[in-house]
Amino acid sequence: MPILDANSLEFFSHGSEQTRRVGIRLGTLLLGGDVICLSGDLGAGKTTLVQGIAKGWGSLDSVSSPTFVLVNSYRRPDRQRLNHLDAYRLKDALEAEDLDLIFLMEQGPLVVEWPERIESIIPAQRFWIAMRWLADEQRGMVFTAQGARYQRLLIDFKRCIYGGV
Ligand SMILES: Nc1ncnc2c1ncn2[C@@H]1O[C@H](COP(=O)(O)OP(=O)(O)OP(=O)(O)O)[C@@H](O)[C@H]1O
Ligand SMILES: [Mg+2]
Repeated sequence: MPILDANSLEFFSHGSEQTRRVGIRLGTLLLGGDVICLSGDLGAGKTTLVQGIAKGWGSLDSVSSPTFVLVNSYRRPDRQRLNHLDAYRLKDALEAEDLDLIFLMEQGPLVVEWPERIESIIPAQRFWIAMRWLADEQRGMVFTAQGARYQRLLIDFKRCIYGGV
């Protein structure tokens, strides 16, 4: 298992189905208020991973790319929401300041695509996933935990995908 340091994990996916499965594992572990950031170029697989995350979390709704809306909100029977924000179209931190991230986090977990565009308003404690294109079907992902809650999440996630720690 490639481990960069105690707070990160590198994973290689060999297809979109595998990326979704990894997302499902992560989704089952998410709690209300968790912030998951997904960075990476166009087509890196961020939305594909969110499809798995939402499924694992128990979403009643299917995931679509929030290209024309800023935030997609997926429901669960217990009334929690998984909010999926795509910051790609935001021009600057000023525009981002209109976003009420606290409100979104109160409803459930928050997943952010293109988080670097709004980094100034993203909580310092977060789970950061850097995705990169390697080849047609291959993608690399580096998961990094920032803060105690996310260190715990990373340990549970490692156990979940590899068994043991
Ligand atoms: N291993 C893989 N993991 C994820 N996606 C893959 C993989 N192999 C191929 N793909 C394909 O790459 C594309 C990834 O698109 P996706 O919308 O998930 O990217 P994105 O990072 O959200 O892009 P954008 O920045 O435009 O929102 C999909 O068409 C998916 O089927
Ligand atoms: Mg996307």
